[in-house]
Amino acid sequence: MQIKTIMVIGAGQMGSGIAQVCAANGYDVYMHDLKEEFTQRGMNGIDKNLSRQVKKERMTEDEKQETLNRLRPTTDLDDAVHADIIIEAAVENMEVKCNLFSRLDGIAQEHAILATNTSSLPITEIAASTKRPKQVIGMHFMNPVPVMKLVEIIRGLATTDEVYEAVETLAKNLQKTPVEVNDFPGFVSNRILMPMINEAIFTVYEGVSSPEDIDTVMKLGMNHPMGPLTLADFIGLDTCLYIMETLHEGFGDDKYRPCPLLRKYVKAGWLGKKTGKGFFEYESN
Ligand code: NAI
Repeated sequence: MQIKTIMVIGAGQMGSGIAQVCAANGYDVYMHDLKEEFTQRGMNGIDKNLSRQVKKERMTEDEKQETLNRLRPTTDLDDAVHADIIIEAAVENMEVKCNLFSRLDGIAQEHAILATNTSSLPITEIAASTKRPKQVIGMHFMNPVPVMKLVEIIRGLATTDEVYEAVETLAKNLQKTPVEVNDFPGFVSNRILMPMINEAIFTVYEGVSSPEDIDTVMKLGMNHPMGPLTLADFIGLDTCLYIMETLHEGFGDDKYRPCPLLRKYVKAGWLGKKTGKGFFEYESN
């Protein structure tokens, strides 16, 4: 199965990162979002990232231009007809993803693979919203995509070996390290990471310590490169809440209960770095 053209759905922090890495490695990429201002924001972010690469002499100005030329921002989902694989990176919400997959199934070519970058939602359930569950798979990149090496590849119940191998090859061509994971809530990465982040939020909620000090404990005491609350802000607190809800519902165990303070921040629109405020404050992007 030859992959030449890729469509990425969602031009947010993950989608734009995935589109950038695909284009930088020679693929033609359609980057889709709901509105032109969103695709434009994604393109601006990519431009800024690539300029930084040029400055650090990791890429020439010509290579940057070639990468940008391979990217096509679009608000038309029908462009999915051009793609050999569609990688969905819209919001972490089952209804949104199932709706998208069902529409994409009707548009995409027969051979096309439908992949999702979901952080925690069951691949098998997303696949069931299509007539091609054999060609549906999880391709879970880490944030920030251009920097992080790992891709978790998650097979749905029906995913074929051929589709798995095509996605594994694609991940390697993107200079990533793929790891095979079974379809359980949160996969491996977020099943381990999110309860730690949620516990750090409970520690703030119960007044045990300040966000700064909690992050310092984990950085200096456990040698984590980034504290859990800063990491939560980078991931997006809405995404963290969706993942905790998926773990809570999927395993039915109260140890996964989202912290009320996390819910409160999300309701306030304090979503972390992307909105300028979460547990810490950030310059607006
Ligand atoms: P984000 O909020 O930065 O971006 C989401 C984008 O999707 C927005 O631009 C939004 O306009 C667009 N969108 C929403 N509904 C859409 C639709 N129906 N059609 C097309 N575009 C639509 O979110 P982020 O962080 O990029 O997350 C995207 C996905 O990646 C989620 O499933 C998340 O769980 C997953 N993910 C997130 C990670 C993180 O660290 N933030 C890490 C790995 C996976």
